[in-house]
Amino acid sequence: MKTPKRLFLATALMASLIGGKATAQATASYVPAEENLKARQEFADSKLGIFIHWGIYSMFAQGEWYMTNANIDNKEYAKAASAFYPIRFNAREWVSAIKDAGARYICFTSRHHDGFSMWDTEQSAYNIVDATPFGRDVIKELADECHRQGIKLHFYYSHIDWTREDYPHGRTGRGTGKDPKKADWPSYYAFMNRQLTELLTNYGEVGAIWFDGVWDHDQDTVPFDWQLEEQYALIHRLQPACLVGNNHHQTPVEGEDIQIFERDLPGENKAGLSGQAISRLPLETCQTMNGMWGYKIIDQNYKSPETLIRYLVSTSGKGANLLLNIGPQPNGELPAAALDRLKAIGEWTTRYGETIYGTTAGDIAAQEWGVTTRKGNRLFVHIFDLDAKELFLPLTCKVKKALVYDTKQPLKVKRGNGGTTLFFDEIPSGVDYIVELETK
Ligand code: GLC
Repeated sequence: MKTPKRLFLATALMASLIGGKATAQATASYVPAEENLKARQEFADSKLGIFIHWGIYSMFAQGEWYMTNANIDNKEYAKAASAFYPIRFNAREWVSAIKDAGARYICFTSRHHDGFSMWDTEQSAYNIVDATPFGRDVIKELADECHRQGIKLHFYYSHIDWTREDYPHGRTGRGTGKDPKKADWPSYYAFMNRQLTELLTNYGEVGAIWFDGVWDHDQDTVPFDWQLEEQYALIHRLQPACLVGNNHHQTPVEGEDIQIFERDLPGENKAGLSGQAISRLPLETCQTMNGMWGYKIIDQNYKSPETLIRYLVSTSGKGANLLLNIGPQPNGELPAAALDRLKAIGEWTTRYGETIYGTTAGDIAAQEWGVTTRKGNRLFVHIFDLDAKELFLPLTCKVKKALVYDTKQPLKVKRGNGGTTLFFDEIPSGVDYIVELETK
C-alpha cells in the first residue's frame, strides 16, 4: 500500500542526509544516546538470539548464495518470486518456538544479497507483497508478534545487491547479468536509506540493524566509500536506541554499537573470517545450526543439541552473545531439526539460564575442560569435559563457598598454588556440569 504520508516522511528525512556530501551532524563524532547505552546493556545481557535467513532463495533450497554461486541471471532468478507462497508461515509459531528456547531476540533478513525485500517496501516492486502471490508482509507479521510476545526484533540488511543495476558490484555477483556500466552509487545509497527509513518507521521498535556485505569491495584498487557514518546517523536519528552492527569482519568503526563475529568466538579464527581485535562494545557471534544460513536441502549436517548448548555457554564465557541461525523452508516452516534443537536449548536455558543471562566473561579464559561466567560475586564454572575428580582454578579471588549448581551440594575446596582446587565425589559429567562459587 502506498501512502503519501510515508513517502513524504521518507523524502523529508533523506533530504537532510543524502546528496553526496555528509552533513555536519552526520560527520560529528558519535555520542550514543542514553537509551542506546541502555539497549547495549540489555543486548549484552541477553546472550541468545536467533538468526533467520529467509527469502525466495529458500525455493531453490541451495542456500542464500545460490544466485551468484551458480551464476544465475537475476531476471531468471526473479521468476521464483511469482511462485513464492509459503502457506505454512505462521509468525506466532516461529516466535513462540524461539522464545521458548530462551532467545531474547530475533534477527531477520529483511533483504539479502539477492535484493529481494521481505516487506511491503515502496522503493522497489521486487518485494514479498508486490511480487509474490502470497502478498503478505511477513516483516509486519513478525514485528507485531515479536512486540506482542516481548522479544526484540533485529533486521539483517545487505549492503550488496546482485539484482539492482545501480549497486556497483564488487567481487561477488559478477555472473548475475547486471550491466556494470549502469552502476550508480548515489542512487543505490539513497535507495538503501529510504528502505532503512521504512524499516525504522513502519514496524515499531527495532532492536538493531545488522549490516552485511562491506567485504564485497575489499579487493577494490581505490578504497570504496560506503558512507556508513551518515547511514548510521540516519538510523540513530530515527530510533536512537536501535543498535547498529556491521558484519564487515573488522574492528568496529564510528557509529557502531555492537561488534559482530562470523562463525567464530571473539578472539578465535577457525573459519577464516575473524581475527579482528576485540572492542569494548557488546559482542555477538553468529553461527549456523547446520552449515548454511539459507535453507539448503542437502545440508542435514546439524550440530547436536549438546554441541549447540556448549557453544552457547562458551560464547557467554567470552562475554558475547550467540546469534544462532535457522533457514526456514520454502513452505514457511522452520525445519524439524531446527525445532528439535530449539526445544533442547529451551530445556537447558529454563534450568540453567541464570548462569549465562546477565553474566560477563568469567575470570578464567576458556580451558580444555570448559569455561566460566560471572554475575556479581557469583562465578559459574561450566565443566564440559574433565577426566579427574579435582579441578584447579587459577583464581586470584578468594572462594567463600562452592556448590554443585544442580543439587546445591557443597564441594570441598582448597586454596593454594596460586588458585583454588575443587574436589568432586564423582568425575563431573553431562552437557555442562555447573559449579557455583561465591567469591570475595
Ligand atoms: C556472510 C554471508 C551471508 C550471511 C552472513 C551471515 O556474510 O555472505 O550470506 O548472511 O554471512 O553471517
